Amino acid sequence: MKPLATPTRMPDTVRPRLVQMQLPSAQDVRAELAAGLLAPRATIAPKYFYDELGSHLFAAITALDEYTPTRTEAEIFARRRGEIAAAVGPETVFVDLGAGNCAKAARLFGALRPRQYAAVDISVDFLRSALECLQREHPDLEILGIGQDFARGLALPGEVHAQRRLFFYPGSSIGNFAPDEAIVFLHRLHACGAEDAQLLIGVDLIKDEAVLNAAYDDPLGVTAAFNRNVLRHVGRLLDADFDVAQWKHVALYAAREARIEMHLEALADVTVRWPGAERRFARGERIHTENSYKYRPETFAELLRAAGWNPRHVWLDDRAWFALFHAAA
Ligand SMILES: C[S@@+](CC[C@H](N)C(=O)[O-])C[C@H]1O[C@@H](n2cnc3c(N)ncnc32)[C@H](O)[C@@H]1O
Repeated sequence: MKPLATPTRMPDTVRPRLVQMQLPSAQDVRAELAAGLLAPRATIAPKYFYDELGSHLFAAITALDEYTPTRTEAEIFARRRGEIAAAVGPETVFVDLGAGNCAKAARLFGALRPRQYAAVDISVDFLRSALECLQREHPDLEILGIGQDFARGLALPGEVHAQRRLFFYPGSSIGNFAPDEAIVFLHRLHACGAEDAQLLIGVDLIKDEAVLNAAYDDPLGVTAAFNRNVLRHVGRLLDADFDVAQWKHVALYAAREARIEMHLEALADVTVRWPGAERRFARGERIHTENSYKYRPETFAELLRAAGWNPRHVWLDDRAWFALFHAAA
């Protein structure tokens, strides 16, 4: 077993700067959560997965054999590193959207040699520790953390250089948006860069249903824990009395919509209470927590064009399970 590393305090000189952009008020968050829970088909937006434990659980999901998006995307990065670097060029301002543990971006630094790395994430404490490790490994790189909910619009602080922005959106996170919302999101990104902006985006492709279902319902139960943890997070934000043990994880591929749906299903009749309201769930009733849309390469290229991006390259793995697109503004 590997010995645990002794934590070392980083000198202040190499601590990366973290800018917290304006967050929605606690009242707005509670109103959004209550509206979702009181809807006839209850929902919780997937951004609420990512409290600190949720971010760790997602990192654990990416280590699972069943979770093909991460593995196949990593395979593309490894095999096509030279082509990607030639297409993108050096000295970009590398803007990592939903950076998480920043591991994917970091693996590309050697090939892409960015001039600045700006990591955006809603899960700020997790981002802070990831960036502190990263700065130690890359002491000469200008690193900036940005705490922000970009679902409400992306606004980058003045410290992020305006020219040569490369928006990096890996892991098929774009699949959490319905296709029409994805166009709006990518269009906003387009507006957030200069005429020389570029986009490097990973997209999970339509494939065998058994492979898709296994990716979101692993036998170890890591994805189930990730899904159920949202109730702990929402419980804290809304002061709601969710009992996690009363909910089970459900993940299904809906072929007509070409999306994986994740739900939490009540194992008994449950009443959830929070200040000023309550919601009764009958046994078997569900809360919809995530969609993950899958695409065909040509459909996604169309979507990019509709959002104002010009697809330049697409790289697939050998089984055509995942696509990495490079697009220009
Ligand atoms: C599916 S994980 C991907 C992490 C990493 N980029 C990867 O590909 O492995 C999504 C990441 O986006 C962040 N995120 C989700 N919704 C967000 C939002 N609305 N605004 C900012 N960050 C968000 C999460 O905290 C999480 O780190």
